[in-house]
Amino acid sequence: MTKTEQLILTLSDIKALYRSDSLPRHWWQGWLCHVLDQPSSFLITHDDHVLTPKQRQLFDEGIAKMRQGVPLAYLTGEQAFFGRIFAVNEHTLIPRPDTERLIEVVLDWAAKSPLDAGYILDLGTGSGCIAITLAKELPSWQVLAVDFSDEALKVANDNAKRLSANHCQFARSDWFENIEGAFDVIVSNPPYIAQDDEHLATLVAEPITALVAKDDGLYDIEIIASQAQRFLNKDGLLAVEHGYDQGMSVRQIFDKYGYDDIKTIQDYGGNDRLTVGVRGVSR
Ligand SMILES: C[S@@+](CC[C@H](N)C(=O)[O-])C[C@H]1O[C@@H](n2cnc3c(N)ncnc32)[C@H](O)[C@@H]1O
Repeated sequence: MTKTEQLILTLSDIKALYRSDSLPRHWWQGWLCHVLDQPSSFLITHDDHVLTPKQRQLFDEGIAKMRQGVPLAYLTGEQAFFGRIFAVNEHTLIPRPDTERLIEVVLDWAAKSPLDAGYILDLGTGSGCIAITLAKELPSWQVLAVDFSDEALKVANDNAKRLSANHCQFARSDWFENIEGAFDVIVSNPPYIAQDDEHLATLVAEPITALVAKDDGLYDIEIIASQAQRFLNKDGLLAVEHGYDQGMSVRQIFDKYGYDDIKTIQDYGGNDRLTVGVRGVSR
């Protein structure tokens, strides 16, 4: 018998039961708000509220899935990113707050560049969170976003329609395979977790092809860095997210392929999170 199948009637009872539960508090509370279709303040202001039998059943089913490792975002089907809500499913990575740093860096670069408008390529778009956010924040720019997963591209397309990101196009491509044209910015949050990384055990629900890369997690970053120069305009920017311990390796990769002004930038936790470089003169 699950916790709420016992004689639980009010939100106050549920809060008391889950207070010291091993599930992260924001998971069960977020799920409860979703089931109730109420904001989080409702849990504070409505202690005496009683769940309907259907809500109790839904709540319990979600809690059981969470205990098997299904993240809250896959249960609710959505995740906030840079102030917008993105639909997600089991075919897409759940957008991470760390990736918002990548957005800030590109926006900062665009603000300082002499360009009034430009062309951005997002490699491995997943839910479309990077491409759509950049398209919304830079309304005079065009964005092309690719992924090799048709299922992910469907989610990204739906997100673009719902968020009215009209100047954001999507295409299926294995990295640069189907890409034509020249870009002012190439951005990517590629798979970068090493195959033997211990953190993988906690990421059981997300698509493994979105997360893991060979060569200690650097395989896809090297492919992207080696080919991006050919698709960048003069002074164009390559910005790639990576693991907290990969900064030096990624700088070496960028250097090997002739980028200029290479630097690694930290996230708000102080960890190395992305490396940028601009197209070198020789490519
Ligand atoms: C770490 S996820 C990032 C998703 C999204 N951009 C984000 O930041 O949440 C990496 C994405 O790259 C895609 N991907 C992996 N290998 C690829 C390849 N060879 N060509 C194109 N996309 C690829 C995956 O399907 C996945 O959507």
